[in-house]
Parts: sequence; C-alpha cells; structure tokens
Amino acid sequence: MPLPGPPDRILVGPSGPLGGQVTISGAKNSVLKLMAATCLAEGTYVLRNVPDITDVTCMADLLASMGMTVARTAPGELTLVHPPGIVPEAPYELVERMRASIVVLGPLLARYGRARVALPGGDDFGPRPIDMHQRGLEQLGAVFTSAHGYIEATAEHLVGTSILLEFPSVGATENALMAAVLARGTTVIDNAAREPEIADLAAFLNRMGARVAGAGSSTITIEGVDALAPVEHTVVPDRIEAATFLAALGVAGGAIRLVGARAEHMDMYLQKLTEMGMGITVEPDGITAVAGQRLRSVDVSTLPYPGLATDYKPFFVAMLTTADGVGIVTENIFSGRFRYIDELVRMGADIRTEGHHAVVRGRARLSGAPVRAHDIRAGAALVVAALGAEGETAVSDADHIDRGYEQFVEKLAGLGADVRRG
Ligand code: EPZ
Repeated sequence: MPLPGPPDRILVGPSGPLGGQVTISGAKNSVLKLMAATCLAEGTYVLRNVPDITDVTCMADLLASMGMTVARTAPGELTLVHPPGIVPEAPYELVERMRASIVVLGPLLARYGRARVALPGGDDFGPRPIDMHQRGLEQLGAVFTSAHGYIEATAEHLVGTSILLEFPSVGATENALMAAVLARGTTVIDNAAREPEIADLAAFLNRMGARVAGAGSSTITIEGVDALAPVEHTVVPDRIEAATFLAALGVAGGAIRLVGARAEHMDMYLQKLTEMGMGITVEPDGITAVAGQRLRSVDVSTLPYPGLATDYKPFFVAMLTTADGVGIVTENIFSGRFRYIDELVRMGADIRTEGHHAVVRGRARLSGAPVRAHDIRAGAALVVAALGAEGETAVSDADHIDRGYEQFVEKLAGLGADVRRG
C-alpha cells in the first residue's frame, strides 16, 4: 500500500475559541489487534470504521508479508483475505516499524503451531520487555527459542490453563487471549488488562465463533474451540483521539462536539476535566464540551484501565502548562515517558521532573517555538499546547502523529484552530 508523505511539520498559530464538531475515528489500539486476529482463520474479513493511519498500513504490510491480502475497499473499510498456508513469520524490518506487531505471536502460534517474530526493541518510553507475553504463552504449552534477534514459539497443541499476569499488560492479555481461543480446554486469565480495546477484540473473536467471557474485567475465561470463521466487524471509536480534541479545547477554550465518542470508555479522563472546570455533556452518540478562559490545575497519576491511561498524560501536561495553579503528574506505567517535556520547556513552560513525577506550574501563556515530536501522543500534545502560545510553533517529525491520528490537522482546523502542514 503506497504511503504518500505529507510535509512533516505541523505549523500552529494562537487559536481559540474552538467551535463546531469533529467525528471520532476508529481506535488504533483496537484495529491493530483485530487485524492480527485474522491470522486465526482462513477466509475474508471486513473491518469498518478503520482509521486511515500509518500504523494500520504497517500492520497491513506485515500481514501481506506473510501471504495475506489487505485492501482498503471503501472509506473506513478494510478487507483482509487469509489464504491457506500463510508464513507465520514477522520480519525485523516490519516489527521495528511498529512494536504492536508483537500481537501476531499468539494468533499465529494458535493457528499454525509455530510463530517466528522479530524481538521488538524499546522506544522513547524506556525498556518494553515482552516477558509476560512469553510467560502466558508458555503456560499454554508453547516452547520458546530465540536467536539472531528473533523469538520462535512452537506448540503441537495449546492446552487451556490458569494465567496470572504480574501486571495487567494490554499486549500480554491480547496475545494470551488470541492463543487461548483455539487451545484445548479452559483458560482463565487473571489480572487481565481491562481496556475497552480488549473488550472489542473479545467481541470480534466471539463473532468468529470463540467463547470468551469476562473481557473488560480483570478475569477473562476462554473455552477453547476447534476452529474459527472470518467475520465483519466495526471498530470501537478511539478514546485517545477524543481525549486529544478535549485537551485542545481545554487549552484554546470554546465549545465542541465529539461525534461518536464513547464517554463510558473514558470516565476517569472526563472526571478530571470536570475537576479542571470543563463542562461535559454526555449524549447518546457523543460528547459536548465547553471550556471557559482558564482551566484549574489538578494532580494526575496514570494507572491501568479504568484508571487514568498513560496515553492521556501528555495532554494533561499540555493543559497544565497554561492552567491556573500547580499540578503534579505521576507516571506509573512507562518509566521514561517524559521526553516531550523538554520541548514544552522550549515553549516557555515551567515544568520540573523528578523520577516519574513532573511538577507543572501554569503560566498565562507559552511562546511559539520549533519543537520535535518524539512519539504519537507527545507530538499531538505539542500541537495542543501550541494552540495556547504566542506566535507560531513548528512541530517537526509530524509523521509520528500520522501513525495514530487520521487527518489530525484537517480535523483541528475544522474546529477553528490555526493549524496547517508546512
Ligand atoms: C498498549 O501498549 C498501547 N499500545 C499503548 O498505547 C498504551 O500506552 C499501553 O497499552 C498502556 O495502556 C497498543 O495498544 C498498540 P502494556 P502495550 O503491555 O501493550 C510492562 C499509544 O500511544 N510490560 O500494557 O505495549 C511495560 O513495559 C500506545 O497508542 C512488561 O514489563 O502496553 C509497561 O511498563 C503507546 N512485560 C507496562 O507493562 C511485558 O511482557 C504496560 O505495558 C509486557 C508489558
């Protein structure tokens, strides 16, 4: 699938108040796993509400490298064809482009009894081991070897068992879940991750004929079945994208409507925004939000779902840079997820970090500056903070943002923000 490259800088001018509505796209952190799950059974799948983002293209390239065909067959629609006998291998050059590729391990192992996957490296968040992925699959009966930067898992049969995760890891839960659906007998995953994307994956698997119960809670029970079948499915909306537009509103002020956002997937975030002074109205098909001149500072700590997601944290820091007061932000999931702070300080923000805490003193206004996106959420948070800055901000390496946001610039401009590519 060709990758036309937009200019890789986003230019942002002082903006606000924002107004109008924006439609929320499908969730990146769900669709990537649904695409991986198509490795579980041959046939033709149709996914709808699929965001047009580069991570989807990466996963499509990975599946295509195994012998599948993946095509965009209509706006927001992806058709995936799994022919007999794909090659259960994920090569380094594709895995290193996107860590999430690791979730093909469980489904390939379950369907083919073998999977060879390049070891994903760390990234800006610090070390990101896969020990819990491996331990869960070993408990189901897989045998692992590793050589030349690859891990290879084999299993004649996977057998249902009890898996207690040391930490509610999203990826480890998804790999164990996608392996257990074809295992013999019952598997219980305890201390499982509870993110809404896990529930979406389980709904997809159950549509394929699996027997998964309890997804979304910390105990998931899976009755293995002999075979699964291809299906059609609509991806849940992206709560992190919705959170990004609410943060833009928090910085720039105004009133906006998020069409398709699911408030029940982002309770803690909305609760914190209300504490900061934002008016939130939950509607059957979305959220309306209103923000006055200046938010109040709050303290936030990241936790596994339903706690405050680590992916929301850069947006809190961005909002706190111009909020009224001092806020302490604590990161409990990824040790090193503070790299964007130097960029905000370049824009005049008053932030001190100590270990996994950041103390943010709100200022009346930031000043525009050249900054760099280090990852998806960090990049989007710089654009959000720049809406409240004097003068122009140029965010470079914006391709990071395109990995996780569909038409980010167009959507923000549609709300009245002064943003463009350049
Ligand atoms: C998923 O990553 C998301 N990515 C991340 O979103 C999100 O930040 C994260 O979950 C937490 O919510 C996708 O879904 C593609 P984890 P994942 O396994 O699965 C440690 C975004 O911007 N751990 O829940 O990789 C790990 O190091 C991205 O959209 C182990 O130690 O996260 C981390 O500290 C960024 N060993 C913690 O657990 C393991 O085997 C949580 O990681 C697995 C994880």
